[in-house]
Amino acid sequence: MDNALKTLADCIENPRPLRTSRDCLTGIVRSKAASGEELFPDIFGLDHEKRRCLEILAGGRGVLLTGEYGVAKTDLARHIVDLLNELFVREPLLYVERCPVQEDPALLVDYIVKGEGCGVLPCPICRKMIADAEGDYTTIGVGTRHHLVEGAGFSRVQGGGDVLPEEIIGTYNLLKLSEIGDPFDPRVFEPGKIGQASRGVLFVDEIGKLPETAQHALIQAAQEYIVTPSKSRETFPVDFLLVATTNPVDEEYICGAVRDRLVSLSIPLVSFDDELHIVRKELGRIQPAVYLPELYLSLAVATVRALRSDERLELGPRASINAAFIARSSALFEGRSMVSFCNIKEGIFTAILGKALYEDKQDVERAVQDAFPSIGPYLQKHIEGVDLERILRKYCGDGEVNAQTLKEHIAGSDNDELSRFAGWAYHNETIHKFRMYEVLAEYLSAYHRGCPSGELHGRP
Ligand SMILES: Nc1ncnc2c1ncn2[C@@H]1O[C@H](COP(=O)(O)OP(=O)(O)OP(=O)(O)O)[C@@H](O)[C@H]1O
Ligand SMILES: [Mg+2]
Ligand SMILES: [Zn+2]
Repeated sequence: MDNALKTLADCIENPRPLRTSRDCLTGIVRSKAASGEELFPDIFGLDHEKRRCLEILAGGRGVLLTGEYGVAKTDLARHIVDLLNELFVREPLLYVERCPVQEDPALLVDYIVKGEGCGVLPCPICRKMIADAEGDYTTIGVGTRHHLVEGAGFSRVQGGGDVLPEEIIGTYNLLKLSEIGDPFDPRVFEPGKIGQASRGVLFVDEIGKLPETAQHALIQAAQEYIVTPSKSRETFPVDFLLVATTNPVDEEYICGAVRDRLVSLSIPLVSFDDELHIVRKELGRIQPAVYLPELYLSLAVATVRALRSDERLELGPRASINAAFIARSSALFEGRSMVSFCNIKEGIFTAILGKALYEDKQDVERAVQDAFPSIGPYLQKHIEGVDLERILRKYCGDGEVNAQTLKEHIAGSDNDELSRFAGWAYHNETIHKFRMYEVLAEYLSAYHRGCPSGELHGRP
């Protein structure tokens, strides 16, 4: 049916209720809940926070996400846009084509029927189009949108001292006005971030870093659902979900009035297992794929977490992600498609030291060394029920650990130590089974080099 709605005249013939961004959010959450689908499958943990965030927004309030660096505040905001887009793919967003704040045609229909007594007064540009149409509403185009895009249903304000209120609330371009001469021409009005966000999401990153004037400009629109651009007395109806973020250190710079009008939600650090998921997800995004053995991944996350209480470092999940990324590059430089122990050690040290100030570097390096486990015992502890030392003695007697040799031995043996090791790897690693032997060989050679007894193969 939506395809048939090309002009305002079609919308008058097929009246539809007004659909706000809150209604849309509620609609998609309900439909996903009914089908048992995850709301944000790419955001791990934070079950309560994800739900509360949506409850606040659907309740018509702006949400202020607070939390340490890298806890997915920005990511959460982005996913809200994705969530709405899931709905719009199925039920497109209808908007008035030349309206600078992409109003819902239902709002114009209501105005045509009820005049000034309507619920929400359309913007001056739409009212002018209606007046000019003289009853022939086929002249007013209606568009359909399947995706909110930056500038149309999504906009982002990055907190900073130089953001001007008019960038947020929009303004009249007086130069264009003098050229065109018609104040109601859509080209004369520059909608600003709020106008661009209308019908979707306005994301304000680091709201505490905005000047007070800009903070106030935001909040009036969020509260009254109208915006009055600078150099104008006209008001534009706007309808958006406001998602703001702040780091705890900047919280005190958020004006009281602004804070009072937002509902704040603190986003905690996730569990160890969820942090593993996060790193895996991020690594999975980049090509060429390089495999990070699971025990090296957990080594990176465990080391980062062990040092997380060190206030000099601010080690959020990004530090774990960085460790994995640096390890990956290190492997690629060596022409490998699997991260070795040396690669991950390099990644962990570089990522953590990269968070230290120059004056703290040496001290932090010692702290990482202390937190970094001895790899031999570490591997043996996590590869339960398998005696790595026995495998080394039996199959790698000459000191060479070779994936091909291991594969041949496994084919010829049954249920000994080596096949138990392979069984462990099948359960715990996520690499394709054809390459499992490479993982076994990697662990064995790392164990060999970091062997606690120091006796093996005459190594000191
Ligand atoms: N719970 C999580 N689930 C999935 N990914 C996560 C999670 N937490 C963090 N990440 C990932 O970590 C990275 C940092 O997240 P993001 O940029 O959203 O953090 P932030 O809270 O906005 O950080 P900052 O305070 O520095 O702005 C992103 O790549 C994000 O995908
Ligand atoms: Mg962020
Ligand atoms: Zn309009």
